[in-house]
Amino acid sequence: MSDSRSRWPWPRVIAHRGGGRFAPENTLAAIRRGHAMGFRAVEFDVMLAADLVPVLIHDETLERTTNSRGRVAEHSSAALAALDAGSWFGAAFSGEPVPTFADAARLCRALGLWANIEIKPATGQDIETGQRTALLTADLWKNAPGPLPLLSSFSAPALAAARDLAPQFPRGLLVDAAPADWQSRASALGCASLHCNQAKLDEATAREVVAAGYGLATYTVNDPAIARRLLDWGVDAVFTDRLDLIGANFA
Ligand code: G3P
Ligand code: MG
Repeated sequence: MSDSRSRWPWPRVIAHRGGGRFAPENTLAAIRRGHAMGFRAVEFDVMLAADLVPVLIHDETLERTTNSRGRVAEHSSAALAALDAGSWFGAAFSGEPVPTFADAARLCRALGLWANIEIKPATGQDIETGQRTALLTADLWKNAPGPLPLLSSFSAPALAAARDLAPQFPRGLLVDAAPADWQSRASALGCASLHCNQAKLDEATAREVVAAGYGLATYTVNDPAIARRLLDWGVDAVFTDRLDLIGANFA
């Protein structure tokens, strides 16, 4: 069995989409909230705006999390910055913009937060999203004193593009259920970790991943009993929305 710290030298509890259920996802307010609730690590999703600037958003369309409509990829980063990505969640967050990745990265660095940057390409933009996000990550974390952020993605082409342009950043392969060939896929991309859907992970697979020396992270874990069971299986980290129930020092 490999050593946990060498597999996963980062915080073991990660605030999902910045602030979990306590702030509008993928906003600067969410990152601030995660930090204010004691978290040392955040995950967020990065997609390209029409001007190819990486921004924080989960869906390819704006309807669910902003006051606008249509495709993210057809709006410039300036137009996205003028949207309200907070009111859907609560009046206290009214006017919160769709942030640029650069602003989110600067905030993480200022707050001393470790980041898992999930590269979330819109359809047909896998390689470009991986390239732009990786290059900007290299710029934003240049000479950073703390541990480097982790780039993850469900998209193999995005991870390959990130590896080619910024190989110094660790990479994580995101999957739903771990496929039988998870190790060859992760190895081909030079990934350090596998990130699985906790609802589809079994103990044997978890133990196989960690025994192979890969970090193992699971999303999205909102029940403390499930989090405890996963950690008992050797899982290295959990992404959670329930920052209240599964706190930064849970693991
Ligand atoms: O990175 C873990 C998790 O965020 C992956 O799923 O859909 O919440 O981005 P999703
Ligand atoms: Mg995500």
